Amino acid sequence: MPDAYALFGYPVHHSWSPFIHGMFARQAGQDMSYRLLETPPERFRNDVLAFFTGGGAGANVTLPHKRAAADLVNELTRRAQLADAVNTIVRRDEGLVGDNTDGAGLLADLTRNLKLRWDSPRILLLGAGGAARGAMEALLSLQPRLLMIANRTVGRAVELATEFAELGPVAACEFSKLEHRSFDLIVNATSASLHGDVPLVPIDVVDSTTTCYDMAYGAGDTAFVAWAKRLGAAHAEQGWGMLVEQAAEAFQLWRGVQPDTAPVLAALRRRAAMAARSPS
Ligand code: ATR
Repeated sequence: MPDAYALFGYPVHHSWSPFIHGMFARQAGQDMSYRLLETPPERFRNDVLAFFTGGGAGANVTLPHKRAAADLVNELTRRAQLADAVNTIVRRDEGLVGDNTDGAGLLADLTRNLKLRWDSPRILLLGAGGAARGAMEALLSLQPRLLMIANRTVGRAVELATEFAELGPVAACEFSKLEHRSFDLIVNATSASLHGDVPLVPIDVVDSTTTCYDMAYGAGDTAFVAWAKRLGAAHAEQGWGMLVEQAAEAFQLWRGVQPDTAPVLAALRRRAAMAARSPS
């Protein structure tokens, strides 16, 4: 019997994770299965525990369960504690360990795949929800001169900045206060792209040296990536690479093997481009 892995989410049928982990497993010669388990919030706890009682080897967790997963596991890694969310559950003899590989995935995409390097960058993080929180530690590890969090609801940005203040130079503001300030790196962690919207940020935050990164991804450019390209950003990227890299980190935790992400990312991009060209 192959070792059983699963992704818990709601909804989850659209997920690329089985494709990604399937490629990793073939590449690394690992005998494992990976399936999607569509689980509504009221069943989440029971279903996860039943999965592991039934021999499950490890799991991924996606929206809306990442916080509930942090309450369910026996132990949290430091990065999962900071993110207050779990996207990867590892089964150990002593119990279930909850980890969060999203920030590491973002960092790997920026630095390893896109080969971006900065010296004390000015970073703008758009959004103050779960996705933004999950990116904080990774962005602070770039040793920014300033990490500015801007959010539509400014109070949430202030809260997040206050929580991370001890870890680096973090500040918070509302979108309109960003006027006449430019940034080296802008990360969009809002869910605006999911609705085809762009946060209402003054356009002078982007100049020809700015890298714009959307944590969302889709067939064709996301609204944020299209906006950044129109403004002449040096780089405008969406989150396919982060998706693959956070999965690679989870795979490494489960199987002890670091997969080669480049062919998987290339295959995903080809599929996304095909989907963008197809009429439906
Ligand atoms: P997630 O876990 O994906 O981060 P979330 O916790 O609901 O989801 O947070 C969504 C984030 O996207 C929030 O920062 C939200 O701003 P508010 O806190 O003001 O709600 C932001 N967001 C969603 N739609 C947006 C839009 N159209 N423009 C700007 N920000 C938006």
